[in-house]
Amino acid sequence: MKALITGITGQDGSYLAEMLLAKGYHVYGIIRRSSSFNTGRIDPIYQDPHVPDARLHLVYGDLNDASSLNKILRTIRPDEIYNLGAQSHVRVSFDIPEYTAEVTGVATVRLLEAIRESGLHPKFYQASSSEMFGKALEVPQHETTPFYPRSPYGAAKAYAYWITVNYREAYGLFACNGILFNHESPRRGETFVSRKIAKAAARIKLGLQEELYLGNLDARRDWGFAGDYVEAMWLMLQQQEPDDYVIATGATHSVRDILELAFGHLDLDWKTHVKIDPRYYRPTEVDLLVGDASKAMRELGWKPKVSFRELIVMMVEADLEAERRKIEGTGSGDRGSARAILEATIKKAADPD
Ligand code: NAP
Ligand code: GDD
Repeated sequence: MKALITGITGQDGSYLAEMLLAKGYHVYGIIRRSSSFNTGRIDPIYQDPHVPDARLHLVYGDLNDASSLNKILRTIRPDEIYNLGAQSHVRVSFDIPEYTAEVTGVATVRLLEAIRESGLHPKFYQASSSEMFGKALEVPQHETTPFYPRSPYGAAKAYAYWITVNYREAYGLFACNGILFNHESPRRGETFVSRKIAKAAARIKLGLQEELYLGNLDARRDWGFAGDYVEAMWLMLQQQEPDDYVIATGATHSVRDILELAFGHLDLDWKTHVKIDPRYYRPTEVDLLVGDASKAMRELGWKPKVSFRELIVMMVEADLEAERRKIEGTGSGDRGSARAILEATIKKAADPD
């Protein structure tokens, strides 16, 4: 089986790649050119003796470049495509709304058109988001809850959701939307609130930082573990019929709850360290998200395994360990050799024979 992943260098892409490689897939990931390496999350795969790196292939491309997508599809001929690539930061989407619309929204139709024109029949997964529910019209949110996006990101994801549904209905594509609620991990980008808090708590504990600046502490989200959520993506593509599924834990917590847990785990009082900076407020906020994943539990047999408390503790412990390693000067480990292997693989993959 061959799987193509857009966004393989991101949080979810790295967990999904690991899971698919463990299932025996050949995994092809699209990476974009950047002036410095952006493959830190997938480098360790090359160090894992259980995963022969010959089954992980990286190709250069960009979701905003239709010709690269067409070429990659025709060359690789994947059985499954996971479209995880996006400008995924909600706050940033207010600063770059047009770019966000392109890469998070319109790029989905670029991929779907590339599939249609190729004459191939890969199964297609679209990374849809609970952010589409926005100013939520019902609680909890499930597959039939109407969308009310509150950000350029949410609006772009709503377009991508509907175009995926449309290509399924119009052309019979096996295309699924996973409407995923927030999911985090030690690999979460450092500007998302859970990771920002975990990292700051660790650094404050080690005396490396004094203060943490945040925005709205009252926002509530349904936070789960990314490792659990990528399993749901795969399960959707293994069904007889394509469909759309909410993936969530069913529990909601505030940003304040993360602070209590993360700082409390390290015997710190967050109130003496956290300051509010209005720069982190959003022009329009999503106040409350909580998902009802009963359809996924019933039809996919999926359920979350990691609790909110376990997730936050896992993240704080990982950041504590990483910061300690930095202090001891061993932060890079033997990543140097992994980097060399990766460079060689990228070179090979960029010029497929
Ligand atoms: P992430 O860590 O921000 O990763 C985004 C990925 O997209 C990165 O690999 C990034 O590449 C890639 N990308 C960005 N622009 C691109 C472009 N123009 N062409 C090709 N690739 C591009 O996001 P994530 O948390 O893993 O989320 C994965 C997907 O699920 C995203 O679509 C996100 O919107 C969606 N989602 C996430 C959550 C969540 O809570 N995590 C919830 C619902 C939906 P670089 O490394 O080069 O930047
Ligand atoms: N990022 C950030 N930084 N958020 C903060 C901060 C801060 O300093 N202070 C408070 N918050 C609040 C935000 O206002 C928001 O209400 C909440 O914390 C969560 O913010 P993020 O962690 O940035 O996540 P998000 O919910 O906006 O978006 C994430 O989840 C979506 C699914 O609902 C992203 O992963 C999206 O890509 C994803 O679709």
